[in-house]
Parts: sequence; structure tokens; C-alpha cells
Amino acid sequence: MPFRVATFLLASVLGGALAYAIFGLSTLWIGAWLGAGFWLLLDALKAQRLLNVMRRDVSALPSRGAGVWGELAERIRKLLRERDQQIRQSDDRLQEFLAAIQASPNGVVLIDEQGRIEWCNQTAATQFGIDPQRDLQQHLANLVRDPAFVAYLASWNYSRDVVIDAPSQPAGHRGYPVRLSMQVHPYAGNRRMLLTRDITALEQAETMRRDFVANVSHEIRTPLTVLAGFVETLQSLPLDAEERSRYLRLMAQQSHRMETLVNDLLTLSRLEGNAPPPTSQWTPVRALLAHCEEEARALSRQITTQGHKLSFLQEAESEISGASVELQSAMSNLLSNAIRYTPGGGEVVVTWRLLPDGRGEYSVRDTGPGVAAEHIPRLTERFYRVDRSRSRETGGTGLGLAIVKHIAQRHGGELRIESTVGKGSRFALVLPVARVRPAAAVSLRA
Ligand SMILES: Nc1ncnc2c1ncn2[C@@H]1O[C@H](COP(=O)(O)OP(=O)(O)OP(=O)(O)O)[C@@H](O)[C@H]1O
Ligand SMILES: [Mg+2]
Repeated sequence: MPFRVATFLLASVLGGALAYAIFGLSTLWIGAWLGAGFWLLLDALKAQRLLNVMRRDVSALPSRGAGVWGELAERIRKLLRERDQQIRQSDDRLQEFLAAIQASPNGVVLIDEQGRIEWCNQTAATQFGIDPQRDLQQHLANLVRDPAFVAYLASWNYSRDVVIDAPSQPAGHRGYPVRLSMQVHPYAGNRRMLLTRDITALEQAETMRRDFVANVSHEIRTPLTVLAGFVETLQSLPLDAEERSRYLRLMAQQSHRMETLVNDLLTLSRLEGNAPPPTSQWTPVRALLAHCEEEARALSRQITTQGHKLSFLQEAESEISGASVELQSAMSNLLSNAIRYTPGGGEVVVTWRLLPDGRGEYSVRDTGPGVAAEHIPRLTERFYRVDRSRSRETGGTGLGLAIVKHIAQRHGGELRIESTVGKGSRFALVLPVARVRPAAAVSLRA
């Protein structure tokens, strides 16, 4: 400021001195006024220039200039820079928050006082089939028209959630519809945050659990009812020895059926809870096949008078690693199915071979009735039987293939099923390369 006063005085003195030198003493005051006026004019011009720059583009403010206007420009520039930085920082923080909400597996929708969408994350947009940008400011109730949800949104009672079918079902999906649990949480007065959660898997698990309990109860109740009936007959009717022994035989059959069911259930729950099968325990395929053959021949004789034409082919001498009891059980299961579902006189061919990619394949091919295509994907479900009456005749409970599939998965392998109605089926257990090795190499190494 003193500099400014000094330059002002200097300009008047200079103006006065110049007038004195040129026009004489009488014009000194006029010169001084003119000098002062000139200074004021220059100052006004500088102020105007600064104003012009600020009007056009604040960032173009001169970084350093002389005098008070230069300093003013510099200070304004600094203040603006600081404010910009603050805005950028809070914007970054906001973006981080939004990114975190975007990453949430749950849908989040912010709704204003009028029920319009203020913001929503991608999960919610996908679930509702809306566009997170285009549909902003739209009324949510116009986009999600499920009556239960519309009533819930309007009720302003959000103590519980509401469950609806997702307005947008994923493309190509079949079976269960996507189910959403939606709950609103009010905040900041009349604003609302809607949280959505995909509970399809949860509902499916719950349905499966209920079905499972119903199935188990049903499977146990059937033989139990039969048994109770026989017991009553034995108690109330005078029977001769032959009839008595026939009843007892039938009773034994039913109790055996219950025992098998319980054993299969225990096997399944053991398979689910057990550690993965060992990779260092190797079993020769030859031994497993021999055991299968022995069982198969006995079963075939037991259930048919004609028997079956059974053949066992081993294309490669191999060893497989894993839990040998489980592997044996899976192989026997497939073979016993083939024998039980193929009428006497039919053919069953068991083959062990190495696939071109090095995996091992145990397959059982039969000339039985075959399975229609629509049943094939469901065969490995627990208690699933194509023909309940036929299966019941043969004593099956529909757990066999579920067990085989579990064993295959535990060993990193898979169960492949091919079948043609009227022609026969082929069930194959494929084991990964890591679990198969040639038997000859072992004897060399040993
Ligand atoms: N080789 C086959 N030929 C025709 N149908 C088959 C064959 N193997 C299985 N199935 C069908 O698949 C269903 C499921 O088989 P799975 O082995 O799981 O059960 P199950 O044989 O009925 O009973 P379990 O094996 O528990 O005693 C059978 O009920 C049968 O309908
Ligand atoms: Mg079976």
C-alpha cells in the first residue's frame, strides 16, 4: 500500500514538474492533477484487465504481476487452486464410496422424497432390468411393478423385507426364477435406501432341504408300513409254517431295504463332510474290476434266471489314486444299475480305457430300456428315479447315482451319461490325468 501511495504521489509530482518545466509555475497544479489523473486511469485499466480475465477464464489469471492488482490476482489464483483441490479430494472420496457400493453383491437404490431414483448401483440395475443412467429420476414404482413391492414402498412400514421375483430374469435361465429380498431403510428425513439381495440359492437350498426330509420320510415310511402290516397279520392270524416263513421273508426284505437306505444316506453325508481323497494311495484297476465282476455275476444270477451276457474289457493296465473304497463303490453302483435295469438275457459291457488326453474312463454299457433325454440331467439328484414302480421292484432308492457323482467330483472327475430309449445306456466315470498312471511303470519303479 505505501508503494501504491508513493507511485500516486510520484505521478502527481512528475506531472507537476513536467508542467512547471514546460509551461511555467502557474500550470504546476494542473500538471499535478493531470499526473494523478493519468495514474488513476492506468490503475483503472489494470483493474479492468484483471476483471476481464476473471470473467473469461479464471485459470488464465497472471501468476505474478506488479503492484496491488498483480498480488490480488495471485491471491485469488491461490484461493481458487485450494478450493479446486478440496473439490477434487471430496469428489475422489465420493467416487471411492460409490465404487465400494458398486462392488457390493447386493443392490442399492437411493430414493428421494417423491419415490424417484436418485442413484442405483449396477447390481440393482441388472436385477430390475433398468439403466442406471437413463432411468435416474424415474419413479421406482413405475419400473418395478410387482404389486407386493409397490404396496410395500407406499406403506412406509419397512420393519420387514418383501420378497418378489426379479423383474429381470437372466437371459437363457431356466428352472427357478431369480428371487429378490428387498428392504427399505429410511434416512435423512424422507429419503429412502432400498437394499436388494438375491435369495434364489437360499430358497433353493431350503426347498431341497424340505424335499430331502419329505423323501427320506417317505422312503422309510413305505417299508415301515409294510412291516407293520405283516407284524399285525402275524399277531392276529393263525398261520401255518409255510405262510409264516413267507411273511418273515418279506419282512426281512423290507428291513433290508430300510437298512440300505440308511447306509446310503450315511455314505452321502460322509462323502460331503470328508477330506478330499488321498492322491498317494494307488489301486490297480484290475483288482477293482475283478471285484466288480464277482459282484455283478452274483447279482445277475440272483435277479434273473437267464442271467446277462457280461464282458469285462481292460484296454490298459493302469492304477488309479484316491479312496479305493469309494472308487470301488462308484464302479459297483454303475454296474449294479446296468444289471438291475437290463432284463435277463441282455448284454452289459464294462470297459476301462485311457482317453486320448490321458484321462482314465470306466464305462458300463448296457442293452437295457435306456433313459429318456429329459430325465438324464436329473438322474444324479437324490431320490430321483425314472420309473418309481420299476425301481421299487428292484429295491432302488434313487441314491446310487447321487453317490457316484459325489465320488467322481471328489476325485476331480465326472460322471457322463448317454442313453437312448429302447437301445440302452452308457454310464462312464472319467478320472483326471493326475489320478491315473500305467501299472507297468509302477512295477518298474518299485
Ligand atoms: N443302466 C440304467 N438303465 C436304465 N435306467 C437307469 C440305469 N441306471 C440308472 N437308471 C435310472 O436312474 C435312476 C436313478 O438311479 P440310482 O442308481 O440313482 O437309483 P436307484 O438305482 O433307483 O436306487 P439305488 O441305486 O439307490 O439303490 C434309476 O431309478 C433308474 O430309473
Ligand atoms: Mg442304483
